[in-house]
Amino acid sequence: MTYPLESLTAHPPNLYPGYRSTVKRAPSRPLVIIPQTLSELTGPVFGHDSLREHDNDLTRQHAGEPLGERIIVSGRVLDENGRPVPNTLVEIWQANAAGRYIHVNDQHPAPLDPNFTGAGRCLTDAEGRYAFTTIKPGSYPWRNHPNAWRPAHIHFSLFGPSFLTRLVTQMYFPGDPLLPYDPMWNSVPDERARLRMMSSFDLETTVPEWALGYRFDIVLRGRDATPMEDPHHD
Ligand SMILES: [Fe+2]
Repeated sequence: MTYPLESLTAHPPNLYPGYRSTVKRAPSRPLVIIPQTLSELTGPVFGHDSLREHDNDLTRQHAGEPLGERIIVSGRVLDENGRPVPNTLVEIWQANAAGRYIHVNDQHPAPLDPNFTGAGRCLTDAEGRYAFTTIKPGSYPWRNHPNAWRPAHIHFSLFGPSFLTRLVTQMYFPGDPLLPYDPMWNSVPDERARLRMMSSFDLETTVPEWALGYRFDIVLRGRDATPMEDPHHD
């Protein structure tokens, strides 16, 4: 398979020394491409029944409401020709409003929120649309380099027709002052591609008296592809 030049600069390289953990995990030898066989293509996939009622509303998964700024994140999943990709499982995970994850590795001194898990999922509809109600994640420190802080972001995972066709990216917020300092943001070589990881504020999907709307379209391939990364958590 050959890729157009644009796709080479649209995605972050596996090895980007500024993002420290890539030094350890990036492969040092050329990748071996394993063709998909019938067992991958017919393997387990997610169906509608595995989704529960509040899976796409992260503010209603507990007895009380989470603290923070309520937001609605919506958009479309599109292929390289702008065609909608329906029935695709979109999963998100994120920190709470204080910038803390419920994860044993996250011990930075910000409070956990008993009413916020920070994980959600939904299936795209016939028009490729998805929507999540959540709260705006906070920035958090990480130990990549001295005084390193991640810009506010939401992790996205998309499953294609099999478990092997998973794509992972991060959505950022417009105007975040931390973006120019973030090695993950900067690891995407093409600046225009970087901007495709940024959501836009959207008055149209803002619900009066309730929640701000942000739009984030995800393009799977081609000239306008959303930069995709290896699955990881940081
Ligand atoms: Fe994160």
